Amino acid sequence: MSRSFRAGSLVLAAIAFTAAGTAQSPKATLNIQLDKPLHAVSPTLYGLMTEEINYSYDGGLYGELVRNRTFHDHDWSGTARWDLAHTGDAEVTMAIDDTEGPSEALSRSLLLDIKQADPSNEAGVRNEGYWGMAVRPDTTYKGSFYAKGETGDMGPVHVALVNDNSGAALASATSEPLTTGWHKYEFTLKTGKVETSSENHLQLTLGHTGKVWLSLVSLFPPTYKNRENGNRIDIMEKLAAMHPQFLRLPGGNYLEGDTIEERFDWKATLGPLVDRPTHRSPWNYQSSDGLGLLEFLEWTEDLNIKPVLAVYAGYSLKGAHVPPGPGLQSYVDDALDEIEFVTGDPNSTKWGAVRAKLGHPAPFPLTYVEIGNEDWFDRSGSYEGRYAQFYKAIKAKYPQLQLIATAPLKRTKPDVIDDHYYKRADEFFDFVKHYDDADRNGPKIFVGEWATREGSPTTNFGAALGDAAWMTAMERNSDLIVMASYAPLFVNVNPGGMQWESNLIGYNALSSYGAPSYYAQSMFAEYLGTEVPVSTIEGEGHRFFYSVTRDSAKGKVYLKLVNATSSPKPIQINLSGAGTISASGMLISLSATNPAETNTIAAPTRIVPEKTGLKNLSSSFSHTVPAYAVQVLELSTK
Ligand code: AHR
Repeated sequence: MSRSFRAGSLVLAAIAFTAAGTAQSPKATLNIQLDKPLHAVSPTLYGLMTEEINYSYDGGLYGELVRNRTFHDHDWSGTARWDLAHTGDAEVTMAIDDTEGPSEALSRSLLLDIKQADPSNEAGVRNEGYWGMAVRPDTTYKGSFYAKGETGDMGPVHVALVNDNSGAALASATSEPLTTGWHKYEFTLKTGKVETSSENHLQLTLGHTGKVWLSLVSLFPPTYKNRENGNRIDIMEKLAAMHPQFLRLPGGNYLEGDTIEERFDWKATLGPLVDRPTHRSPWNYQSSDGLGLLEFLEWTEDLNIKPVLAVYAGYSLKGAHVPPGPGLQSYVDDALDEIEFVTGDPNSTKWGAVRAKLGHPAPFPLTYVEIGNEDWFDRSGSYEGRYAQFYKAIKAKYPQLQLIATAPLKRTKPDVIDDHYYKRADEFFDFVKHYDDADRNGPKIFVGEWATREGSPTTNFGAALGDAAWMTAMERNSDLIVMASYAPLFVNVNPGGMQWESNLIGYNALSSYGAPSYYAQSMFAEYLGTEVPVSTIEGEGHRFFYSVTRDSAKGKVYLKLVNATSSPKPIQINLSGAGTISASGMLISLSATNPAETNTIAAPTRIVPEKTGLKNLSSSFSHTVPAYAVQVLELSTK
């Protein structure tokens, strides 16, 4: 009896499971009045936010292959990521020398003491890279290092990219002979028909005894748009495909630092790499500062987007703050200098001239400046006064700039407030009306950080559904929400690479991939539209969301439909007031079998959008959104 009862429940469970995947929910009706615009869509709605977290720049976007290139990262031995290399009976030791360095900024180096070596038995060091070093066939790598020999007869340094498993040199070069003073040595490594792999390291060896000091060992693969000191091509291409309008820089917590000394001190990130001291990021590792302020700006230029510049405002994460008043003035002046560096005339302003000297005479466009980051954490209550001091000084010199506050204020009305939301999908589903009735006479809103936090190291399809639902809400409210940027954007998926779970783009040394939400966000941004028409929906049930926008100049209507349920959702779509709807249109569809399904570094394109043609469209047509799906319908008006 009990046996057959149990068997029966199994059958029932199986039927229920099948039904959940196929049964349709009741039909919804969406009425859209295309001739009744509610408001314009903010053209800058979707942008990017990044910071040095999860090895976003070093070991991520920034092209550098050598890890701990300046010997400022520390492990127990002080020489993290470096190991000794020797052939035959060569002998060498290594240690950090805090008394020798190539510049004031880099006053430390690696001391190699070569006790035994000859041209056939060399000794030196090797660097493991950021979880390996990507080597590809027929590729030119540009490298350099700073070195000094104990005597003038140490000879050259032999540099090679070596495969970890075979020990084979995949490309090699020989430097000029070392001298007894610090010099920069440049080299080129060119591979032939080698196999693409990341299981490689960089090796530097000498065939002579004596002491050698090394610093700033660098190796770059080809970069996006061939920028010197530039960015990884695959990741930049992924960013470009998101159709962003701006880059919020340089953070996030990274702007503030754990302490005031560890803030993003932009002046220390300019100029030759040898003059950049590097600094500890609040995510617990050393930032090379190779991606400094000018590189951030060039990154915006390469993507043809605008910077949203966040300036340090006198508060750091562990609670230290600079009270408003004379003590804060140097930070205000620093922000004014920074704005001048970004926008100043190269001939008539001091910092514009510095920028020009560094190779970029043209000013960068700037509309928004953000004062601090998440200053609601400042329990001292000093933000009100700090914001006012920055606001007054910046507006006096740059009245055209829009100033963003990072916490609610009582005394000053900021131009824009930066709101941050990190939620689970169900929380976002319940949150979509948040801005519908918000005050339209107050500051504009910048959702400077937001994400559905489900899935790790990159988010899953359930998160994409939460994100897409939230994006429909932001589009509907884009008269108020002028900009929005997801965070964090990047994660190095290797063990130890992640400090924050739930990220959008994952990578290792060799390749990168987008989470399902990466595609949802790209779809929303590509088919943005310019105005929101009046619309109403009935019968949509739970966890179904939509946004409708129009671009009259292009003769397009964009319907974004999000079905976060396990049942297909039929919908009757009625459009009025736009003449004729063309019979053919386009469907871009992103869907999954269940919310946990995801993309990974090993299965990078399991969930990607599919484009198909739509037929038999008219001003009233029926469409079914599959279970667990985010769709964009592009309709043409005639
Ligand atoms: O995005 C990760 C962190 O979340 C940001 O650095 C910070 O601004 C927020 O708390």
